[in-house]
Amino acid sequence: MKIIAYGIRADEKPFLDKWSEENPTVEVVSTAELLDENTVDQAKGADGVVTYQQKPYTASVLDKLGSFGIKYLSLRNVGVDNVDATAAKRNGIQVTNVPAYSPQAIAEFTVTQLMRLLRRTPTFDNKMANGDLRWAPDIAEELNQMTVGVYATGRIGRAAIQIYKGFGAKVIAYDIYHNPQLEKEGIYVETPDELYAKADVISLHAPATKENEHMLNDEAFAKMKDGVYILNPARGILVDTDALIKALDSGKVAGAALDTYEDEVGVFNNNFGSFDKIPDERLKNLMKRENVLVSPHIAFYTKRAVRNMVYYAMDANKSLIETGQSDKLVEL
Ligand code: COI
Repeated sequence: MKIIAYGIRADEKPFLDKWSEENPTVEVVSTAELLDENTVDQAKGADGVVTYQQKPYTASVLDKLGSFGIKYLSLRNVGVDNVDATAAKRNGIQVTNVPAYSPQAIAEFTVTQLMRLLRRTPTFDNKMANGDLRWAPDIAEELNQMTVGVYATGRIGRAAIQIYKGFGAKVIAYDIYHNPQLEKEGIYVETPDELYAKADVISLHAPATKENEHMLNDEAFAKMKDGVYILNPARGILVDTDALIKALDSGKVAGAALDTYEDEVGVFNNNFGSFDKIPDERLKNLMKRENVLVSPHIAFYTKRAVRNMVYYAMDANKSLIETGQSDKLVEL
């Protein structure tokens, strides 16, 4: 059996090598290159493909995989929004993801960024670096005094809820699906509007779908409390960036922590050498603000998560090749 793993980064390679040692019956070929029209030919002769990338898995790539007789594509991440579902189905390609490599990694980072915003630590870091050791005017707020509105209560949302509760915050949540335990606790509100109206902090944990594209737009911001905090470690497309900038300018939004950004592909996880050379003016507008924390989609990026992404995706691909089954199959 042969599996080709695309887009293998230096931090993933030791985990892939270890998996390969532990699975001597599998021939593992890996490349740092991403899976696209220029590299897809390297998959010829493989039984399965393992990948992670944010650029699209296009119809032409999937058609090529289909023409090589490859039926199994295993992603090392959660989101499947960049897979051309029609082309995958047309070619009979089954797709697996890694739904839970470490929900805690993302939840912990989300709350870390919120605490930095509330305690004004970026401002104090800047002041200290400039020799200004005064307190005022940067007085902080306490999370235990706030209501956090969690949008979507999948694994990551639930991990975040546990941490928010640990801080003593009041938590409310919105989701179409109600988790039985959270339901018992009476955490759910009926509509997104109710969440917007009641929350001091909005913590987004939803996947990207057609329905929730730009869900935080001018109308949504208008329904929120003045001085709300926005956290988006989920998908950039959930937030209308222009609307967010307006809401920051007006003071409607007191602060935002954005680990995702709608135009992040090709920008995040790249080194441009200097701030000025970052090729996105809107992103730089956000990055320049002390009350906005932009991070380059790193909430997931821990040793445990990276190990699990590699192991679970390789296990899923092997299982599909051997049995045609995997508990990580995705409905596209
Ligand atoms: C995902 O797993 O879908 C993520 O958003 C993390 C990714 C950058 C590896």
